[in-house]
Amino acid sequence: MAFENILFEKDGSIATVTINRPKALNALNADTLKELDQVFTELAADDTVSAVILTGAGEKAFVAGADISFMKDLTAVEARAFAQLGQAAFNKIENLPQPVIAAINGFALGGGCELASACDIRLASESAKFGQPEVNLGVPPGFAGTQRLPRLVGKGRAKELLYTGDMIDAAEAYRIGLVNKVFATAEELQEAAKKMAKKIAGKGQIAVRVTKSAVNQGMEMDSARGMAYEAEVFGLVFSTEDQKEGMAAFLEKRKAEFKGK
Ligand code: CAA
Repeated sequence: MAFENILFEKDGSIATVTINRPKALNALNADTLKELDQVFTELAADDTVSAVILTGAGEKAFVAGADISFMKDLTAVEARAFAQLGQAAFNKIENLPQPVIAAINGFALGGGCELASACDIRLASESAKFGQPEVNLGVPPGFAGTQRLPRLVGKGRAKELLYTGDMIDAAEAYRIGLVNKVFATAEELQEAAKKMAKKIAGKGQIAVRVTKSAVNQGMEMDSARGMAYEAEVFGLVFSTEDQKEGMAAFLEKRKAEFKGK
């Protein structure tokens, strides 16, 4: 995979995608969104990858938002298409079969906060800053910030961030449930993201994938339908070798060796 605006690395079963436009604080233009869409389409088909880390290049930013230079002269029709492009790419991340961990190493503003919100788990460094400053530019969010942020932190807190454009630090993001964990340095953050990705990769991969699907599907259903879906996938997984191995290993007091079959 050759890209201009993102870096792609694979270390065993862990893939790392890095948004790589540090001079523009990794701002998302249309080309970058197309590359993100492509890399996550390819990852979805790659069964050798068990978990993905998404991060930003450089010391300052995860992603400082959609690219304002790119957006400023768009027509209404072009701007709608740009929002749809970003939403489609972020939906690929949210619905990727494998879990995606955002390692947020600096500014996660506007489209950057929306990108982090599309990931399964958010880890941050102490220097990370979050916000939805679109209203400062006279626009609303366009990459699903009005949809995912309220689902993550609740309607009231989301509306405060969305209406004021205020930036919050990592400690406050942790307090309101926007990030799962905060690390003192960027190095510790990257190490922790790798450690968590490896831990997930060591579990039964079919179980991890159906769990992601059940949570995602369930969030769009009422709880009775969500539970029915869960019971279905629970039953289906009993047809896998991983289920036999996982339960046999427990009873034989040894570590399970899952094959993803
Ligand atoms: N788009 C384009 N360029 C950006 C950018 C963005 N979102 N954010 C930063 N940059 C560029 C700056 O223009 C600057 O470029 P030059 O060196 O060529 O002047 C470079 O990155 C470094 O930025 P600053 O000099 O501004 O760095 P700073 O440390 O003084 O400030 C910052 C950092 C607070 C993040 C500030 O850059 C900033 O406020 N950025 C914009 C944040 C923003 O409004 N994001 C929302 C965008 S709209 C959106 O995302 C819509 C959507 O939902 C789809």
